[in-house]
Amino acid sequence: MKIGFFDSGLGGITIFNKVINEINAEYFYLADNKNTPYGIKEKSQVIKYINTCVKKLIDLECDIIVVACNTATSIAIKELRDKYKGTCIIGTEPAIKVAVDENYLNKKILVCATTMTINEEKLNNLIKNLDVEDVVEKEPLDELVKYAEKGIFKGVKVENYISQRFSKYNFEEFTHLVLGCTHFPLFAYTFKKILPSHIHIVDGSNGILKNVHRKIDEKHLQESSFKCKVLLTKPSDMFISNFKNITNLDNFQVEII
Ligand code: DGL
Repeated sequence: MKIGFFDSGLGGITIFNKVINEINAEYFYLADNKNTPYGIKEKSQVIKYINTCVKKLIDLECDIIVVACNTATSIAIKELRDKYKGTCIIGTEPAIKVAVDENYLNKKILVCATTMTINEEKLNNLIKNLDVEDVVEKEPLDELVKYAEKGIFKGVKVENYISQRFSKYNFEEFTHLVLGCTHFPLFAYTFKKILPSHIHIVDGSNGILKNVHRKIDEKHLQESSFKCKVLLTKPSDMFISNFKNITNLDNFQVEII
């Protein structure tokens, strides 16, 4: 069984880690590190990047492809599924439903994501369909993607940036923070440090893990021995070293595509 993961960079590892922990397969982790960050770029250009990356995973005959990127899912998941009908393509969405289901006090929910995810119809339709337009506030945190790709996951810069973006909110009115970008759980330490302790922080990784299990059952796929190959769109020792640290893996191959 081959499972491919795709993100603009390191963010998808926050989902990848959960999946490899439970499922043995031949894995590909494709990071478009040459073109990251996606969330502040021109949409038509980003769609081209996404198509190139997913085509590579299709050519590698992945049984399941996880688009481990909220931004790419927002703008391209429908097109990808229409194009590659024979392959199971799982997308990533901000876990607003999880927060709504837990939000017994009917307080506010803050969703953080990239600018593109926030502006796209997909997120706004999700909020409308859940009938929580009055409850949800949205905040872009694009700089965090750049920090992560530079290997900065905590410290003064990160704290100042998040504190400044959050200064307009009174967190007594909120119960949940939804991390709607797969890079953001890499900053969990700082989010917890800054936010009052009653705020629940949720992300979409558990939902994706369940989805992968479901697709394996539906397609009657068999687990195979663990293998991992990292595919990068540009050489980067920093990426490899961050990948090692965040996954705790040292037995993987690397290919520049
Ligand atoms: N990890 C991404 C996401 O979930 C992409 C961030 C970016 O490239 O801007 O949206």
